[in-house]
Amino acid sequence: MTTSPIETKAMQLLSKMTLDEKLGQLSQTCGAGGHIPQYLVEGIQKGRVSSVINEVDLATVNELQRIAKEESRLGIPLLIGRDVIHGFKTIFPIPLGQAAAWSPELVEKGARIAALESARAGVNWTFAPMIDIARDPRWGRIAESLGEDPFLCSQLGVAMVKGFQSDDLSTNGAIAACAKHFVGYGASESGRDYNTTNIPENELRNVHLQPFYFAAKSGVASFMSSFSDLNGVPASGNQWLLKQILRDEWQYKGLVVSDWESIKELKVHGLSASDKDSARLAAKAGIDIEMQSTCYIDNMKALIDESKIQESEIDSLVLNVLQTKFALGLFDQAYTDLSTLPAYLNHEHLSAAKEAAQKSCVLLQNQSRNGASPILPLNKNDTKRIAVIGPLANDGYEQLGTWVFDGEEQHSISCLSGLKEIVNEGTEIKFEPVFASSRDKDTQQFEKALSITEQADVAILFLGEESILSGEAHCRSNIDLPGAQNELIEYLSQSSTPIVLVILAGRPLTIQPIVNKIDSILYAWHPGTMGGIAIAEILFGDACPSGKLPVTFPRVVGQVPIYYAQKNSGRPAAEWSYVHIDDVPQRAPQTSLGMAATHLDTHFTPLYSFGFGLSYAEFAYHDVNISDNKIVIGESFSVTLKVENKSEIDADEIVQLYIRDLVGSVTRPVKELKGFQRVYVKAKSIVNVNFELHTDDLAFYDINNKLNVEAGDFLLGVGKDSSLELNVAFELIN
Ligand code: GLC
Repeated sequence: MTTSPIETKAMQLLSKMTLDEKLGQLSQTCGAGGHIPQYLVEGIQKGRVSSVINEVDLATVNELQRIAKEESRLGIPLLIGRDVIHGFKTIFPIPLGQAAAWSPELVEKGARIAALESARAGVNWTFAPMIDIARDPRWGRIAESLGEDPFLCSQLGVAMVKGFQSDDLSTNGAIAACAKHFVGYGASESGRDYNTTNIPENELRNVHLQPFYFAAKSGVASFMSSFSDLNGVPASGNQWLLKQILRDEWQYKGLVVSDWESIKELKVHGLSASDKDSARLAAKAGIDIEMQSTCYIDNMKALIDESKIQESEIDSLVLNVLQTKFALGLFDQAYTDLSTLPAYLNHEHLSAAKEAAQKSCVLLQNQSRNGASPILPLNKNDTKRIAVIGPLANDGYEQLGTWVFDGEEQHSISCLSGLKEIVNEGTEIKFEPVFASSRDKDTQQFEKALSITEQADVAILFLGEESILSGEAHCRSNIDLPGAQNELIEYLSQSSTPIVLVILAGRPLTIQPIVNKIDSILYAWHPGTMGGIAIAEILFGDACPSGKLPVTFPRVVGQVPIYYAQKNSGRPAAEWSYVHIDDVPQRAPQTSLGMAATHLDTHFTPLYSFGFGLSYAEFAYHDVNISDNKIVIGESFSVTLKVENKSEIDADEIVQLYIRDLVGSVTRPVKELKGFQRVYVKAKSIVNVNFELHTDDLAFYDINNKLNVEAGDFLLGVGKDSSLELNVAFELIN
């Protein structure tokens, strides 16, 4: 096998390194926030620091690099890591919101801008994309995810990697991306963060590993091991995962970093009895850099002296680190040259953030309680008095969402400001926050809110979750609107004034109790810096909502986990089988009910399906055709259709293609997303849409956990969300 120039350079450098210097390359430590303590100076001078995390003062970063380059024996530059999850200064919607735009192009652009802005602070490594499959809205980190579906998450995750890394990692403004959290973190039991995960290998391979596989093949520079216990072996000490899957099966050559102190936590898990043993297990598994904890630097020499690990094994870890630094071009240019980087928050960046926020918004409901025509879009000329209600209407901080280290609220356009910016001159806006926070239970301002609602032509409620209620370690067992928000909506619903509810949240919320008490609902996630103007333009029709849900919305939290790509079971839920608890006859005999996979007290369907989202336009799908109903395995095939916009409004529609493999050597989901396209359809016109597929797209890990395409019968459907009917039959033949 030929050795690349980067591998050659890394091996030449490795040959000059002492054991101490080698071990130094396996250690990441936290910056001190704008100054350099003496211990850090000395650590870098001695070659004991490979990477610094959370230092974003450029002068300090350049000085850290200078010390490494000029005052250490071998002059090995530093990796400067930062969580740049959905923007640096220009904040984009939370990743779950970005996923609702179903646009790899938008996600790539957002990551590119985040890379350029963070590079201005000397950052050369971000810990993103987070591509955990998330199917539990109780889990706070669903906010950082790209949703429940492996196909959508894979497409968007690869786009994010490309945005961060550009086409050449060594170019100025490209930063190393990091596929995290490897793997299965989203399946944490009961949606509690850091909790145990038990995932059968077949599901791991067919669901959770998929986005990471595509990230690896896309050239992501690094992986991060998860905190979680994976089937009894925590990921940071899991050789099956980090060696057999990542290195042997996927031939991944990049760098693996542990999550924050996750190596030290192997002892807490009970996988090891000491930090030394944790160091051994993690190194044997293949963690190259230890984040924050010091099990490696404190114990590795002893492990080598005791022959519990070979120096040659250490060499392999060091090589992965050095190769990454060479790939980043750090040996040639470790210092940040601001002259080649665009300014923070420039017009282009803010425009991109607004577009992302706008295309992320999902219109969940648009009707009127009195049966008249839908409330949205509002007419600027007819809307002369607006009641704006809710604490999130005027909070540039909360709208930024979770995992925002460097964004600042003063740059945000709040929802209230956005409305004021676009309404007609003379329009009266009365604002009543009602609550001090989204968790507030004080109802004293309800009467005042009702009063301004009664006087208004429309009431616009901005409710939901503060940013701290989602994200890492911020999980909820009850995912209703927090505080007394439901009570507020109930109270205001006594008014005949049309009510529009805009929800800012980091997860799907169980809003079933209030949907019939308001007219229209727009789900804006945490929309970022430009959220306010993006939302205002949608509400008044300057933009048309086009987002589609990247995650299923349950009716009640007791339905969780609920997701579209479920298995059929032997007794699938169906209308005939559903008997509501209130309708169960008294003393009903044991076998008298539906005897199917349903709950007695909640309908078996979700409140909103994966892929669901309304538009101001009205779309119709016609002439779905497949190129052949018998397709030889190994060949390509295509699916064509027409999408008609029957309205007077030009708009985007996200066309979705799902399949079902009716019989497999393991049971297959009742639907699987295999294609999507965001198409622009002018008013009163029809566009042709074409999907090019290959039988490889229908491959799955079979009964032997081997990736395989099995002959047999399939169904296919194309439509506007995952509740569509699969009405095209085809067969794969050998
Ligand atoms: C955190 C997170 C991880 C993040 C890392 C560094 O605990 O789990 O996603 O990248 O620590 O901040």
